[in-house]
Amino acid sequence: MNLAEQFPVIDRHVWLNHAAISPWPAAVSRAVADYVEDNARRGPLGYGQWLDIEARLRERACRLLNADSSQDIALVANTSTGLNRIAGGLDWSSGDSVVFPANDFPSNRLPWLALADRGVKAHAVTLNDNDPERSLIAAIGPSTRVLSVSSVLYDTGLRLDLKRLGDACKRHGVLFCIDAIQHLGALPLDVELTGADFVVAGSHKWMMAPEGLAIFWSRPEAREQLQTLDSGWRMFSDPFNFEREYPCSPDTASCFEPGTLNTAGIIGLNTAVDLLLEHDPGATAGRLLDLTDRLTEGLMKIPGVGLASPLERDRRAGIVSFWISESSAEEVTASLNLRDIHAATRGKRVRLSPHFYTPMAQIEQTLKCVADLAARRKG
Ligand SMILES: Cc1ncc(COP(=O)(O)O)c(C=O)c1O
Repeated sequence: MNLAEQFPVIDRHVWLNHAAISPWPAAVSRAVADYVEDNARRGPLGYGQWLDIEARLRERACRLLNADSSQDIALVANTSTGLNRIAGGLDWSSGDSVVFPANDFPSNRLPWLALADRGVKAHAVTLNDNDPERSLIAAIGPSTRVLSVSSVLYDTGLRLDLKRLGDACKRHGVLFCIDAIQHLGALPLDVELTGADFVVAGSHKWMMAPEGLAIFWSRPEAREQLQTLDSGWRMFSDPFNFEREYPCSPDTASCFEPGTLNTAGIIGLNTAVDLLLEHDPGATAGRLLDLTDRLTEGLMKIPGVGLASPLERDRRAGIVSFWISESSAEEVTASLNLRDIHAATRGKRVRLSPHFYTPMAQIEQTLKCVADLAARRKG
């Protein structure tokens, strides 16, 4: 892969904000532009081809997740929608409980907290720095129905040990739900190895595709435990049977897809996942971890800089968060921005998130810039 051609953003900007929204690879923008052009020239005459691309995306999503069947893949509007379908669809009894990290992104807290009026207790767990999985597993009790985690936390970038959590869920008969939006596209994810029951991941971060689409994988036995909240024409294997009179729920993941899908997003994501598979998820992860290793090591050496992210390589993915003492995170992010280094403020920290294609020279440039800002503060 010619990285300079595929990622023209590197010519113009230091983009260290993939944990928010990624620039699109050239192939993705070409595929979406072709779709736009085609629509203008001949409307939806290409509909059959769009359906073929949709089917290819489901197959590719399976390969990315090491999942068995594309019938277990639903395409939904975003990560939050998938998580809501799970939280809202389970047949809860008053007194049931759900466990999740207290500092997780709102999308993996609010749908569980919203179940309070059904008598469901939300157990928001403060993660122990040395053994975060132990805190989550210890919170599982006889009333627990679901453990739901972001596999990579959006602020510190902590990567959880999914196999350990999945094994514990199996032992306790608890459903295991993974929000993988900060993971999929950055690191490999294997639904079998992790013992996941549900995985949801939006397209616009590490998968580098348009916004407004998410891959939602569900294990059939887990899916059976959900009531389908939706009814619509497109969830059936014969969607053009418009005479259907009774709502019923198909036993495939298309039960989450009642109506017309986001074709522009599907075309973009299909190309993006193709690129990720072609590059090899293992190689992508290796290169990304080399970059976050270097950021970690470099930041640690700068006087006045503190690190909020894990130091160990196997605890990280694509996020490194830091602060400069006596400076606000907003000020530091704004100063980096002025130098065309694009980061994000999350809480009191500055979050850096390169992707595998980011040149090492841009990491060095960023470290130098942070060192200058830290020195200026102290002086
Ligand atoms: C961990 C996590 N989950 C969910 C979301 C939101 O995803 P979506 O907009 O696809 O619902 C984010 C976005 O920042 C996130 O970091």
